Amino acid sequence: MEKLQTLKVDIPQKNAYSYDILIGENLLSQAEGLIKKYTKANKFLVVTNETVAKLYRSSLKIQNAAWVVLKDGEEYKNYDMLKVIIDAAVAHRLERKDCIIAFGGGVIGDMAGFAAASYMRGVDFIQIPTTLLAQVDSSVGGKVGINHEHGKNMIGAFYQPKVVLADISVLKTLDLRQLKTGLAEVLKYALIERTCGCEKNFKFFNYLKKYKDEIYKLEPDILSELIQICCTLKACVVNQDEREKGLRAILNFGHTYGHVIETLTNYTVFTHGEAVAMGMKMALKLSYLKGLIEESYYKKSLDLIEQYKLIDKIPSFDKERFYDEMFLDKKSQNGKLRFVLPNGLYTVKITADVTKEQIFQSLDV
Ligand SMILES: NC(=O)c1ccc[n+]([C@@H]2O[C@H](COP(=O)([O-])OP(=O)(O)OC[C@H]3O[C@@H](n4cnc5c(N)ncnc54)[C@H](O)[C@@H]3O)[C@@H](O)[C@H]2O)c1
Repeated sequence: MEKLQTLKVDIPQKNAYSYDILIGENLLSQAEGLIKKYTKANKFLVVTNETVAKLYRSSLKIQNAAWVVLKDGEEYKNYDMLKVIIDAAVAHRLERKDCIIAFGGGVIGDMAGFAAASYMRGVDFIQIPTTLLAQVDSSVGGKVGINHEHGKNMIGAFYQPKVVLADISVLKTLDLRQLKTGLAEVLKYALIERTCGCEKNFKFFNYLKKYKDEIYKLEPDILSELIQICCTLKACVVNQDEREKGLRAILNFGHTYGHVIETLTNYTVFTHGEAVAMGMKMALKLSYLKGLIEESYYKKSLDLIEQYKLIDKIPSFDKERFYDEMFLDKKSQNGKLRFVLPNGLYTVKITADVTKEQIFQSLDV
């Protein structure tokens, strides 16, 4: 009997609702039955990409579903593909109570979610994340959107899914580079854990040090637990601040740099996780330069990122250009750059108190 864990995410809103995150093995074959508990939809639109469709289309059988199979890649997370999804919804005559299912990694999840939020001002939305990154991070918390040529995720919405089905069996077909990109977000949680405000202390940093080999071997119990810990930490943050008025920004640890790296390289050179891993190193350096963390913690954190071999070599960027691009990031406020910086063991703070010189220095890690 395969294990199925259920995790509830409570979002405090006026019309408060919560949703389950189901984590387990071989969920695709049970998806139809599981989904029916969460939506009254008659029709479904499954949004996926060519890679996922090739591997898993036959495993996900849902009645009354039309499929829209998009090209694979971050560079397709744009207006054109959004239009393709909306056009497919219209062609399939999806009505307001119907449902869009995101079946893929974070790119598909973000785009399909934005289509679900926009089509008829909102239809039901279900996430079936198929990458580690999507299972530990992007499928939870309700941020959906597309990229603009001048910025990542510049156009989007907050739109929560009815349920998330995280089938760990599909992670076996992820290539190593994609596994690592998810692990970058996983490591992020270890470095921000104590600021997430969860009652339970997972000691996630030590957990990741201890179970690196099991994680890389995709050992099911460890993998399920890891996904559960990450989703719990994210849920704790989202529960306190769904709309990113304050605390939620800590989830962007490493991303202020990471988004710029992705933009400067046209989203084609590095995976999101590689960019975030570089960004975390840069943010750690900035913290260290500002005297916010001890040298021992700085080294220990860099060492964890090194141990997971998340990136080969950080290229040298044009610093002025890098700095200019940073201002286009959504995290800048009133023309001031805001950074999520480690300021103690597994804690971070948000600060704008950073000089241009320090930023320049932090780019050399
Ligand atoms: N909404 C959020 O809160 C949030 C958080 C973090 C990241 N994101 C977004 O997520 C995106 C990155 O997500 P990603 O890393 O999943 O990238 P992705 O969606 O591009 O998937 C990575 C690659 O893996 C392939 N793939 C997917 N599932 C597979 C499987 N089971 N087996 C084999 N290959 C598979 C995809 O086709 C793709 O080539 C970025 O656009 C980022 O902005 C969003």
